[in-house]
Amino acid sequence: MQHALALARKGMGLASPNPMVGCVIVREGQIVGEGFHQYDWRDHAEIVALKSAGDKARGATLYVTLDPNPLNSGQGFERLRAANIEVFTGVCEEEARRLNEPFACWIRTKKPFVTLKSAMTLDGQLALPRPEKKSGKSSSKRRIWITSEESRAEVHRMRHAADALLTGIGTILADDPLLTDRSGLPRRKRLLRVVLDSKLRLSLNSRIVKTSDDDMLVFTALPLISPKARKLQNAGAEVIRAKNKNGRIDLAAVVAELGRREILNVLLEAGPTLNGAALAADIVHKLFLFYAPQIAGDNQVPFALAPKLLLPPLQHQNVKQFGPDFALEGYLQDVYRNH
Ligand SMILES: NC(=O)c1ccc[n+]([C@@H]2O[C@H](COP(=O)([O-])OP(=O)(O)OC[C@H]3O[C@@H](n4cnc5c(N)ncnc54)[C@H](OP(=O)(O)O)[C@@H]3O)[C@@H](O)[C@H]2O)c1
Repeated sequence: MQHALALARKGMGLASPNPMVGCVIVREGQIVGEGFHQYDWRDHAEIVALKSAGDKARGATLYVTLDPNPLNSGQGFERLRAANIEVFTGVCEEEARRLNEPFACWIRTKKPFVTLKSAMTLDGQLALPRPEKKSGKSSSKRRIWITSEESRAEVHRMRHAADALLTGIGTILADDPLLTDRSGLPRRKRLLRVVLDSKLRLSLNSRIVKTSDDDMLVFTALPLISPKARKLQNAGAEVIRAKNKNGRIDLAAVVAELGRREILNVLLEAGPTLNGAALAADIVHKLFLFYAPQIAGDNQVPFALAPKLLLPPLQHQNVKQFGPDFALEGYLQDVYRNH
């Protein structure tokens, strides 16, 4: 089953909007067939494995990480048992469930699974004070990384697993990031870069706009016929007039729109304003927080601005090491709850 899970992971970036599924066929202690699902291949992992095994599949044992689609849940087992095939379930269940939680979330709610990722200092600051120039002014735009190369490589793996990256205009104005998947791993669809920008402050000269190639979505409160909206559209960005809630873009409407576009897995990489708003709006399922062994010394850019918000303790926490940094992973919502 561990090998079937490893095969399923090969579908990362390639299976969405379908689940990642791996399958191994074993006969007399030998692997006689294996496969995983890729959306473009159409065949499910079991079919790929059965085709590769051919006649050797007779009398063999098939290990499959299974499709967690609740619409089909249990029906396949009944049919197999009715055909006198022995069926065992629950092998490595936790691992298989975690692997496909974005699919499980989307198939149940039609909304994407949202992971909030942040990189911060030990005192919870998302940015270091910018170094002073000789003139005494702080130098602008030069990005100072908080976390190590190892952590940043992990972020690219997370982007590879995601269908969309979500950020706020504050981050674009402060850092001018590209927000691309630079993992070098294969993916079927481009990573969709989504910016929330009510007043369309996004510059046509920003790196994200300059590199847009059918992979940029801007949610705004302005009418789509406004001159700035037109300019952004001409530069290749899709602009969407978003619903408004308490004077801000309605985050529930944003995730619903992404779900309609078959976005299963969203990585939220934003500053304190949008982090706080996303937590308050309850759209975040999981936190992935990188901590670098540094102290910022001021409190200008905290992790999240969400006054009076008290979240429940994280569930299923996990701590991982990346070079000199560590990351805390934990859940705010469990997509498999009640299932
Ligand atoms: N270390 C990290 O992991 C990390 C990651 C990202 C950013 N940062 C840092 O964060 C700082 C920027 O923080 P920030 O708070 O200005 O940026 P932000 O949270 O990325 O963007 C905030 C802006 O998004 C817009 N927005 C649209 N809809 C919103 C909604 N529903 N709720 C909240 N905001 C919404 C608002 O501008 P409009 O009202 O104009 O729409 C708001 O001012 C920079 O110093 C950057 O380096 C750090």
